[in-house]
Amino acid sequence: MPTFKLDGNAIPFEAGDTIIKAAWREGIEIPHYCWHPGLSAPANCRMCLVEVIPSAPQKPVMLDILAWDDVAHEYRTQQKPKLVPACRTAAAEGLVVLSDKSEQVRKARRDVQEFLLLNHPVDCPICDQAGECKLQDYWLEHGQFRKRMRDEPIHKPKGVEFGTTIVYDAERCVMCTRCIRFMAEIAKDPVLDMRERGNLNEIVVAPGRRLDGHYTFMTEYVCPVGALTTKDFRFKARVWFLRSAPVVCQGCATGCNAYIDFDPRENKAYRYRPRDNAKVNDFWMCDEGMLSYVFAHRERLLQARVGDQHVSTTEAIEHVRTFFAGVPGSRIAVVLSAEHSLEDNWALHELGTNLLGVDRVFYAAHPDGYSDDILIHRDKNPNLRGVHSVAPGAKPVEALLGDVASGQITHVISLGSSATLGVDQVAKATWLSLAAHTGTLPRMATVVLPVTSWAEHSGTYVNARGLRQVSEKALAPQGDSQAAWQALISVAKALGHEASWHSLKAVRAKVLGIGPLLDDSTLTVSSPSSVE
Ligand code: SF4
Ligand code: SF4
Ligand code: FES
Repeated sequence: MPTFKLDGNAIPFEAGDTIIKAAWREGIEIPHYCWHPGLSAPANCRMCLVEVIPSAPQKPVMLDILAWDDVAHEYRTQQKPKLVPACRTAAAEGLVVLSDKSEQVRKARRDVQEFLLLNHPVDCPICDQAGECKLQDYWLEHGQFRKRMRDEPIHKPKGVEFGTTIVYDAERCVMCTRCIRFMAEIAKDPVLDMRERGNLNEIVVAPGRRLDGHYTFMTEYVCPVGALTTKDFRFKARVWFLRSAPVVCQGCATGCNAYIDFDPRENKAYRYRPRDNAKVNDFWMCDEGMLSYVFAHRERLLQARVGDQHVSTTEAIEHVRTFFAGVPGSRIAVVLSAEHSLEDNWALHELGTNLLGVDRVFYAAHPDGYSDDILIHRDKNPNLRGVHSVAPGAKPVEALLGDVASGQITHVISLGSSATLGVDQVAKATWLSLAAHTGTLPRMATVVLPVTSWAEHSGTYVNARGLRQVSEKALAPQGDSQAAWQALISVAKALGHEASWHSLKAVRAKVLGIGPLLDDSTLTVSSPSSVE
């Protein structure tokens, strides 16, 4: 691979790379505002300026500047090397680039910072971006100057509602145009633009339009400062109290990689952020997915139930023992869930087919919905392919109705919450539901055991392309819930069997062999945090 030198270090690059992109891939940050690895590069912020040392016989391009001469007490003409934007300068074999090691570059960064902060309100104490703001970070790294301007700063619109999700503060905006480019280039809806010039610049929504559609949250995500905030997260938490876990979005079969940010003091999830994965979602997520973190808490089932009565998990298991005593496997059906992990589904399938002798396996799933050619998949389940891998012959749960009506099936064990069934259609069956959320299946059940949601355990999901991905645990189990594969150990025991799985490691070793899969390279959570 060809290389160039950055501050003396060899940086490999691919054809078409700019200096900033090659350095970014190596985990080296050249300061920047307008550049983003997933967007075009307008080179308008000038924060990424670097010095390129030409090799002989070329001479450096020099610029005349006026510099204050302390001895002569007047401005004198001096020369300095012309700096170039690293976001628009192509990497080339043998190039010698100075970034942190150039005094001219360090001064340029300081000057850009001072320029950007001239009219900035510096309202960090009430800004949601505080703690993850590029203006703050770069001021510490490259600024640390005192403000010299004594004039009243220019005031601009604040609290402007761009749509139902996003609020704009023009005084905090550094005019990097990332939000404009995201909407035009990725969301394919060029609804944002810039108006005026110089310090009157501001971002506006096209006349007659709102910032809407399925990708508005990403404008806030790409904004490097606190100019765009989401109504959902605004004023809810300080980011330095939050911790992050790498998870897989459960909103559809695309399986976008995300971080779930949560406050461990309250065991509460606050937001999703996209996690870079070039094989799945690049840098992005859709609005529905970004808001689906709320189901870490919303509609959660926290306690076991028998009939209408809340009971302890031990009591519920005792009822399972009684209800299922002496029932042959031929009368029992298991219902797997496209909402649940491979581990949970494997454990239920194992219990049913190997321990109980069940021969009728079904699966429940969310119905199809909206899709596009950007990210959103019509299959609204995170693991339908995984269910088909665990049980290739499983039928949709609707096919169970006839078996129940004819009396061939009298007992059912189901996983998950969603299914397009009516409660009265299966009233004749004794039903054990293991569910994390309220929904059709637990509503129709005789006994309900609460299980952990995706946010409370580590689980493996297979997306629509056949990629197997691990979603890690963020929250502690809520209420009386435990992972479904764990709860099924107790269920197996109550039904007179010893489970062959007793740890996550043991279950995961089993699901590793499940296939076929197109590509298994994202089995481990490995995506680096986005550094843009
Ligand atoms: S709102 Fe944010 S992303 Fe948009 S131009 Fe301003 S600083 Fe950049
Ligand atoms: S496209 Fe699907 S997986 Fe990706 S963020 Fe949206 S809902 Fe989640
Ligand atoms: S990042 Fe290069 S000019 Fe903005």
